[in-house]
Amino acid sequence: MNHQTIIVLDFGGQYNQLIARRVRECGVYCEVKPYTTPLADLLAMKPIGFIFTGGPNSVYLEDAPHVDPALFDAGVPVLGICYGCQLIAHHLGGKVVAANDATAREYGKTETFFDTNCKLFKGLPEKSVTWMSHGDYMEKVPEGFSLVAHSDACPNVAICDETRGFYGVQYHPEVNHTEFGTAMIRNFLYEVCGATGDWTMGDYKNTAIAAVREKVGSGRVLLALSGGVDSSVVAALLAEAVGPQLTCVFVDHGLMRLNEGDEVEAAFKKWDINFVRVNAEGRFLSKLAGISDPERKRKIIGEEFIRVFEEESKKIGAVDFLAQGTIYPDVIESGLGNAAVIKSHHNVGGLPDYVDFKEIIEPLRLLFKDEVRQLGRELGLPEYLVSRQPFPGPGLAIRIMGEITKEKADTLRLADAIYREELEKAGENKKMNQYFAVLTDTRTVGVMGDGRSYDRVLALRAVTTEDFMTADWARIPYELLDKISGRIVNEVKGINRIVYDITSKPPATVEWE
Ligand code: XMP
Repeated sequence: MNHQTIIVLDFGGQYNQLIARRVRECGVYCEVKPYTTPLADLLAMKPIGFIFTGGPNSVYLEDAPHVDPALFDAGVPVLGICYGCQLIAHHLGGKVVAANDATAREYGKTETFFDTNCKLFKGLPEKSVTWMSHGDYMEKVPEGFSLVAHSDACPNVAICDETRGFYGVQYHPEVNHTEFGTAMIRNFLYEVCGATGDWTMGDYKNTAIAAVREKVGSGRVLLALSGGVDSSVVAALLAEAVGPQLTCVFVDHGLMRLNEGDEVEAAFKKWDINFVRVNAEGRFLSKLAGISDPERKRKIIGEEFIRVFEEESKKIGAVDFLAQGTIYPDVIESGLGNAAVIKSHHNVGGLPDYVDFKEIIEPLRLLFKDEVRQLGRELGLPEYLVSRQPFPGPGLAIRIMGEITKEKADTLRLADAIYREELEKAGENKKMNQYFAVLTDTRTVGVMGDGRSYDRVLALRAVTTEDFMTADWARIPYELLDKISGRIVNEVKGINRIVYDITSKPPATVEWE
């Protein structure tokens, strides 16, 4: 079936995939295309609307990215966001200048006033908060356009020409900080472009299965399965797409949580798939011996994973494809594209330079975590697998500060199990999206019985988040923290002090390394 299509035209902004995700959330199919795509190719996709993204450039500079001006004569509505808005203004006779005057430059949350007669803001409050991030300013609005939003600092926050279906906003409606941002995007899709909401995650599933079948043909695929949500969803997807050609390899690197290796094996042994468990604790721990730097730990683990997969693939014979459960936030945080490196997610930036597979398949590469869960449900995965909290590929290696040893891993495993057990018993786990313990490298003095102790500090972390790109710390009741702390210091040798992490992301990250 052909779906109504929105094209997100990419001008290099930070949030482009987030725009695409918002469009999907509104039940409309969409594709992100580079701004350099020829207009004829874009129009051949029969889009019902274009969204121009933000971008780091200034439209008035010589080498700034532009669109083919004929796009504005194609009779297709356009929503321009930030740079995209300035581009519309620039092309249609307005004037964009650098906001030298600090008052017109805006960053962060801004109180904004809207004209709700404009279709974009229909049914929404006349005043709400938007997230701004722009240093340029529309000095002259193009002919035929009206001003439909302003802030105290800037008279030209949003423009529209309703007769031609052109809309531009200086702020970012796609980010969570913009109140009603998704509702504005929905208004553009449904009120302006005539969307009917003919796209679902079920369609995504079918498209993804068809794409895998086409790529793999009669070849063999090895899936790096960790038992976490992402790789489990890929397992289900590939099982449906290429069933018998698939082998799922689960590498137990000795840095799993308590009993996890056995639990993953038990869960997947039940499936009608080729499943192999490789016990590789000794091998990973010896490679990691003496290493404290978090980025080096990730790279070593990434490399060692690949080497194990290569060995397993030789045993299976003629494996062309390595499949991984990489999701979009992993891609951005590993610094691919324009974003800065925050962490090399082991399955992306942690890949060694040479990988002995013909190709890597990552069917979830454009999805956010909650979309992956939805897709898992579509594929019929049991709820306990789909709603599991994420567990990073490098495992406890990035939750043990400093050098990793088996003794430290065993200590952390026990403490983490008690923490999780108590949260789950109290039902608090349902109010948070990820929770775990971190073994710090700091020792402090304590008193136990009549003696002095000099043991490690354990940190507890729990966060609430929608997409793991930003997160808040969970408000665990004091009484429960007290119970957890008491149990851990009494039951786990080597820990004599417990702290609770009360930092959000940003400025911190979810994991400590
Ligand atoms: P951060 O710490 O980057 O974590 O805020 C965001 C989410 O990603 C998980 N995470 C990883 N997952 N490989 C993974 O598969 C990694 O290297 C990795 N590092 C972080 C983290 O657990 C959280 O859910």
